[in-house]
Amino acid sequence: MTPETQAAALREQLNRAAHQYYTLDAPELPDAEYDRLFAELQALEAAHPELRTPDSPTQRVGGAPLAEFAQVRHSVPMLSIHTETDSSPAGAAAFDARVRAALELVGDAVIDYVAEPKFDGLAINLRYEHGVLVQAATRGDGSTGEDVTANIRTVQQIPLRLQGSAPPLLEVRGELYMRRDAFEALNERQRQLMAAGDKAARTFANPRNAAAGAVRQLDSRITAQRRLSFFAYGLGAITPPQEGGPVFEYHWDILQALRAWGFPVSDLAQCAHGAAALLEYHAKIAAQRDALPFDIDGVVYKVDALAQQRRLGFASREPRWAVAHKYPPQEQLTQVLAIEVQVGRTGRLTPVAHLQPVTVGGALVARATLHNELEVQRKDVRVGDTVVVRRAGDVIPEVVSVLMERRPPEAVPFVMPAHCPVCGSEAVREEGEADRRCTAGALCAAQRQQALQHFASRRAMDIEGLGEKLAAQLCESGMVQSLADVYGLQLAPLAALDRMGERSAQNLLDALERSKHTTLPRFLFALGIRHVGERTAQDLARHFGTLDTIMDADEEALMQVEDVGPAVAHSLHSFFAQPGSRALVQALRAAGVTWEEGAPAKDAPQPLAGATFVLTGTLPTMSREQAKERLQAAGAKVAGSVSAKTSCVVAGTEAGSKLDKARALGVRVIDEAAMLAMLDSGAGLNFLEENTSQADFSDLPLFSLAPAAQRTGGEGQG
Ligand code: IVH
Repeated sequence: MTPETQAAALREQLNRAAHQYYTLDAPELPDAEYDRLFAELQALEAAHPELRTPDSPTQRVGGAPLAEFAQVRHSVPMLSIHTETDSSPAGAAAFDARVRAALELVGDAVIDYVAEPKFDGLAINLRYEHGVLVQAATRGDGSTGEDVTANIRTVQQIPLRLQGSAPPLLEVRGELYMRRDAFEALNERQRQLMAAGDKAARTFANPRNAAAGAVRQLDSRITAQRRLSFFAYGLGAITPPQEGGPVFEYHWDILQALRAWGFPVSDLAQCAHGAAALLEYHAKIAAQRDALPFDIDGVVYKVDALAQQRRLGFASREPRWAVAHKYPPQEQLTQVLAIEVQVGRTGRLTPVAHLQPVTVGGALVARATLHNELEVQRKDVRVGDTVVVRRAGDVIPEVVSVLMERRPPEAVPFVMPAHCPVCGSEAVREEGEADRRCTAGALCAAQRQQALQHFASRRAMDIEGLGEKLAAQLCESGMVQSLADVYGLQLAPLAALDRMGERSAQNLLDALERSKHTTLPRFLFALGIRHVGERTAQDLARHFGTLDTIMDADEEALMQVEDVGPAVAHSLHSFFAQPGSRALVQALRAAGVTWEEGAPAKDAPQPLAGATFVLTGTLPTMSREQAKERLQAAGAKVAGSVSAKTSCVVAGTEAGSKLDKARALGVRVIDEAAMLAMLDSGAGLNFLEENTSQADFSDLPLFSLAPAAQRTGGEGQG
């Protein structure tokens, strides 16, 4: 194969894969394979720059920034559609009546239409010559638009080369838009950039503005990072039939041809026979509107037969054969009555605007999120302001912007409280973060259920049977107000809870009793201190030995612990600085929670440092959690899956695929007894080298401790 044919084959394969992935939503090529082929094509193009064609998928990443956009004169003007003035469902009948009158239809002749969603993005004209995308332009004033080819090339759903046979000239028209999830993710990222001090970062009011902003980027590499989508809905210039171009009789056939050329065409487009079907379509799409992954602002009706379209013609630059039938807008003006700060289950403080209730996109909205204090500052939302609220789909309504000219003179800037409005504890915003959080954790009523669930979880206090549902019941009934209350629960009131009964209640009491004998790392982790995960809790316990020394340590002392940085140290210190935290620890101890305290072991031996273990199956005497703790205490990493890097697998009975994999990779496998002996020896993996031998592979295929007699001659697995 010459480099040229090889590059062509790679382009073809990659373009097909992208079409399957982005347009058909039915990927066939594994991602890794796509990446491999892509890298191959990139290497080939680097070695032979002349092979870098405009339809190469490598050209989708964006290129050097432009100084400005060139002007493009549309060879066929890009028209707008008339909006039906009667936005009630009856508007469809009005349009049908006008079409019938203009066509001078008599009797009960019925018109066939195509009904489509009216996508809320921006119109784009895509020009293909001999099947290759050569130019993309915005609508502009309808006669002249801007050349945004470099940006449009980065949109994965837009084919760089048409599929099948295409006319020499083809212009495709459609809507460029941003999906709601892409929009939310973009704004979230922008908020983070703003929190990190990026002065140029800003959020976008709605997906349409975000899409328009992305297309008008002079730097196409930025466009490439925004996830844009496209729906084709029509044609512009095309090779005429007398020069071999395709002949279409119906708009519906155009949509099918667009799909066959590789364009996304909405599944929601459908044929509609007469006015009644249009009405039905209007109602059907209205009912689906909130659940759609993208914004629409109405539906469009188009006369299906192109011969009829030609007879209908145009009226003042608008076709008589099409109409837009709008839905209620997703943005409305209203007034801010108050700004309240809510505390979420994770302690996050969210400012929420209470609004003069207003109907937005068909639903009544009385509250809207202001996201965080930085957003409130940037938008400068104040009580009394007239604001734009947006509600789209299931997304929480948000305040988009303020109408400054309508601001009452007495309006004062909003100040985020420095204390949690629920519990009064300090609320802090860490550097580089957008959110302010309550520091009280479990002590804060807003966070109680979440805190209780965490406290009871397997890796924390391991209270069997205390899951999400029960945690909610306990908190909601008021039976648990402080975490320590769980150890005071009584049989009768527990048994009376919904779906409980005496037996489950007794089981819970037994589990609670068992959980009292714990370890310091588990206890520390169970407190749910922000940034203190399982591993950090273990490091802290190892370093300080006792809870009291941890509680009394200042930030500097805390940072002496490996992997404890300023954020963790600050979080720990401010947690234990709250009197409530100390009272909670006191109450839990008084309730009988105990653990073995050790000496501060700054240089506790870590014989398994650098080794990675995997646990599988049921061990004879200990739970996998316990085994994990022991291994981690000796410095080992405990991983979830076996790889060539795994040092050793500890297997119990009913060990499954992990054991098979270990065997296939030749990874050492031991049983619990060998693990315990190794831990007790303090010699780490060396102990195994010296003391294990391969047991019978047919039964439990483990390396276990060799019988004493064989031990001297036993061989390890090297
Ligand atoms: S057809 C001559 N179909 O609505 C008719 N337009 O005023 C050409 N739009 O900005 C337009 N969805 O981008 C058509 N399914 C659809 C549409 C649609 C959205 C936009 C279009 C233009 C405006 C038309």
